[in-house]
Amino acid sequence: ELARVRPGESVLVHAATGGVGMAAVRIARHLGAEVFATASPAKHGVLEEMGIDAEHRASSRDVDFEDKIRRATGGRGVDVVLNSLTGEFIEASLRLLADGGRFLEMGKTDLRDPEEVAEQYPGVTYHLYDLVTDAGPDRIGRMFECLAELFTSDRLKPLPVRSWPLDKAREAFRFMSQAKHTGKLVLEIPPALDPEGTVVITGGTGALGRLVAEHLVREWGVRHLLLAGRRGPEAPGAAELVEHLRGLGAVVSVVAVDVSDAQAVAELVGKTDPAHPLTGVVHAAGVLDDAVVTAQTRESLARVWSAKATAAANLHEVTRDLRLGAFVVFSSAA
Ligand SMILES: NC(=O)c1ccc[n+]([C@@H]2O[C@H](COP(=O)([O-])OP(=O)(O)OC[C@H]3O[C@@H](n4cnc5c(N)ncnc54)[C@H](OP(=O)(O)O)[C@@H]3O)[C@@H](O)[C@H]2O)c1
Repeated sequence: ELARVRPGESVLVHAATGGVGMAAVRIARHLGAEVFATASPAKHGVLEEMGIDAEHRASSRDVDFEDKIRRATGGRGVDVVLNSLTGEFIEASLRLLADGGRFLEMGKTDLRDPEEVAEQYPGVTYHLYDLVTDAGPDRIGRMFECLAELFTSDRLKPLPVRSWPLDKAREAFRFMSQAKHTGKLVLEIPPALDPEGTVVITGGTGALGRLVAEHLVREWGVRHLLLAGRRGPEAPGAAELVEHLRGLGAVVSVVAVDVSDAQAVAELVGKTDPAHPLTGVVHAAGVLDDAVVTAQTRESLARVWSAKATAAANLHEVTRDLRLGAFVVFSSAA
């Protein structure tokens, strides 16, 4: 967009193993450019894997890259520099630009005046840019469309990603500040409960299950419920419950399934209407076998454990790859 890279031109990408750097290398290659890159020496193995051989790479920790790349380009220098470095690295990069060269500054800390750069380095254009404020939503939208097309047609490959749940953002930023990472670091925003999705409630015909079902329909706008219990529709009051929930606007199925059985849980989740994929799990199934500790037996503990903990593990296992808005587990001891 800004550098207007043409096939056969040369592009220097600084800090090329980071998220933006890696993306820039791929896009520059896609545009037919010859790519030079810098990174800390410890990450040169990553550059090698990216197809940047020893001739085309240099350290981002000292300014020797200027001489090295000048030699590699037969003294001409490069057409475009994508910069994220500061201080003397900027001067070295500006000197390295050939006539008609474009310097793209994406950093924020060491900015120059484009007119002064033009005076000092004739024939070189200095672009300072901020993607969000300069490009605006329409242009960014067009870029996304163009990129999406390149990804779906396999002409661009997505970057390696390392992700953290949003509540581990502190850890992710700490990791990034150590500059040890390569590729894109991503924070995952937990999905919200989708009112068009299905919520499974185990023990859905029991006392708590019913209350949760009604609450989900009334307060959360959930419209598709799958209520599971060993007796299923035969459980006392099941028909009235379904009637009641339907009256509130929900589509309700009641199924007979023992959730301590892993296979049965997999089948239960498999029964979800594909038009309304699973968005939530509420595990309210449980059996009580209360007794003081000394009166507990192996059998009584096993009975309570299997309906509660084994079932929770089964539910987790079959839904672990789904983007659920909620996974709610009622405990069994208060
Ligand atoms: N943490 C707390 O303070 C607290 C307070 C109250 C309750 N609870 C817990 O919440 C659970 C539910 O309480 P509740 O009052 O709603 O009890 P409930 O009325 O007895 O309901 C339990 C439900 O679980 C179902 N169920 C039991 N074993 C199952 C299995 N293996 N597979 C599928 N469904 C199974 C039962 O249906 P079927 O018999 O048809 O299978 C029934 O619908 C209790 O077990 C208790 O552990 C926790």
